[in-house]
Amino acid sequence: MNGQKQTNLFSAEKESLTTRQSNIIRSPKQNGTEKEDSKPYLDELGIEIIDNPQPIQFFKNSNDFIHRWSPYVQGFSAKFVQSIFNKYKFKYREPVIFDPFAGSGTVLVQAKLNNYKVYGVELNPLLYYIANTKLNTWHINPDKLKKISNSLEPKRKFVAPEFLKSKKHFNLNVLRKLETIKSGIDSFTPADEDEQKIKDLMLVAFSAILIDCSNLKRTPCLGYTKNKTVEDDAPISFFKMKINEIAMDLEKLQSHFQHINAESIVYLANSKSFEHTQKYDVVITSPPYMNGLDYVINYKIEMGWLGFAENHTQLKMVKDDMVVCDNVSKGLIKKFAVNNSRYTNSWLEEIKRNIKLNIDNRGHYRRNDMPEIVHKYFDDMFIIMKKVVAAIKNGGRFILVVGDSLIADVYLPTDLILAKIGTDLGMKIEKIEKARNRRSGQIRSYRLRETIITLRKE
Ligand SMILES: C[S@@+](CC[C@H](N)C(=O)[O-])C[C@H]1O[C@@H](n2cnc3c(N)ncnc32)[C@H](O)[C@@H]1O
Repeated sequence: MNGQKQTNLFSAEKESLTTRQSNIIRSPKQNGTEKEDSKPYLDELGIEIIDNPQPIQFFKNSNDFIHRWSPYVQGFSAKFVQSIFNKYKFKYREPVIFDPFAGSGTVLVQAKLNNYKVYGVELNPLLYYIANTKLNTWHINPDKLKKISNSLEPKRKFVAPEFLKSKKHFNLNVLRKLETIKSGIDSFTPADEDEQKIKDLMLVAFSAILIDCSNLKRTPCLGYTKNKTVEDDAPISFFKMKINEIAMDLEKLQSHFQHINAESIVYLANSKSFEHTQKYDVVITSPPYMNGLDYVINYKIEMGWLGFAENHTQLKMVKDDMVVCDNVSKGLIKKFAVNNSRYTNSWLEEIKRNIKLNIDNRGHYRRNDMPEIVHKYFDDMFIIMKKVVAAIKNGGRFILVVGDSLIADVYLPTDLILAKIGTDLGMKIEKIEKARNRRSGQIRSYRLRETIITLRKE
């Protein structure tokens, strides 16, 4: 009787598992590691990965001056970027730096602080705007910034973007206050170029406080949180605090960094089609990660409020141009699949075959077109890397920080594939360093890594 009951209970429990849960339980990758699964690839490349833990993530910037003007979760740590510059400061006397995925400009700002010539490309108009403002406002009078932002008059009415369902994201009183601040900024008519830059700084400050004022959190994906109370006054106090931070940083810049005169430019463009007019000594970047974050959905609130997208179609247009993530539209992947001029190599083909096989065996996966998404990611990266490599000076370096993935129980050594692409393009792999361990989002017990790839042009 007891036995009978237990069996019934057990089977009821089993039935209640979702397909995803039972796939996780059955996964051969439980307790697996990137180390084991990378071995065949490393043997073929004839290299080893060096353990070298480092602070590479952006949250380490949260108090660094200028970088703190905007909270950008997927960026670099400024200290890491500086450590790279320090390492090569005797090798390249006046290095020219480039970042093809500039984000909110960590590499660009840090290079400018060193008085290095620096160029960057960013596709997301919001992130481009933030990076450009962080780079080009260093001469602005901090007292004037404070004075103007303290006396904003909301003459033009601003209404929160309808398409974002703003009433769900913010408490009503908070929402009204945010609308008032935005109306005040919009109503300010700049009398000259410097006042336009003051307006830019106010908009960057405003974008930086939006998520803090909302019922959302970004850790690093944007999502709801129940454990958050936002005071009605938060918009006013957070905005003032942010303006004060910026003003303090401008003061410091004007007292300690007056000697800076090297050119620094960020372009709003797609790195896949960007025409390089410079030659670089050091390219340092962190590309989007395969299977990683959706940089458009993650910043849709700021993009909508600042007017960089008026509807979902416009958000999708930005996303379709980006190096793909697994949230990309099915139509784009279908179109890619029939394209004949795609980059490929034997590793990629085998990985695609195995992903397809595992998805077929499971009968269902998050995205059944995952093999083609993976392929498109590396094709996008190949197109960009080819253009970048051609613009690197002889003896120059290409440094990429990237994470690997586990997709339908297939290990994807993103770093090693990118390194291999580098060699296909004539670069030499100087070293690959493991900066930190990560966990797979699919199988939590599976260990992934984040690495720094250094390629050198001979
Ligand atoms: C990991 S983030 C870069 C972080 C940046 N290095 C920093 O420290 O702030 C990747 C960035 O690449 C951008 N991106 C994706 N595809 C792109 C493309 N085809 N051209 C230019 N930028 C792109 C995304 O919008 C995102 O901001």
